[in-house]
Amino acid sequence: MSRALLPLLLLAGATLSAGDPAKDLPKFQGDLQKYWTDACARCHGVNGNGRDNSGKPLPDAGFDFTDSRKANKKKDSDWVKVTMQGKDKMPAFKDKMSEADAQRMITDIVRKFAAKR
Ligand code: HEC
Repeated sequence: MSRALLPLLLLAGATLSAGDPAKDLPKFQGDLQKYWTDACARCHGVNGNGRDNSGKPLPDAGFDFTDSRKANKKKDSDWVKVTMQGKDKMPAFKDKMSEADAQRMITDIVRKFAAKR
């Protein structure tokens, strides 16, 4: 590899990790709504529809929680499991919150997105 290329590659790597939405996920501190905004909304959107504030689809959204037809086919227990253990681009939160907290997150926050529409 040419010596000129290496710094360029390092730069590209730094830029990529700076844009990684799973980076610097905070620990759960007890406020579910705040935690959604701080830890989940960067990928799932503040309103759970996988869009940013200007309505643009977020690249790592994965699922539209406001789509009640689709959401109704999903079980709470499966959603808690994905939140704890992660799946593909969805990071695992087992080191950030307890399973009981994740359960409350699903019933009190995530489920309500579909009801709000
Ligand atoms: C780095 C981006 C990212 C963050 C942060 C994130 N998610 Fe996800 N989430 C995803 C992606 C991508 C998927 C789809 C995974 C798949 O099915 O491949 C997903 C899927 C899910 C699912 C399953 C939906 C389905 O397909 O049935 C739930 C539930 C969920 N996330 C909840 C949360 C909660 C709660 C938080 C915050 C505590 C959170 N997510 C934070 C990216 C993220």
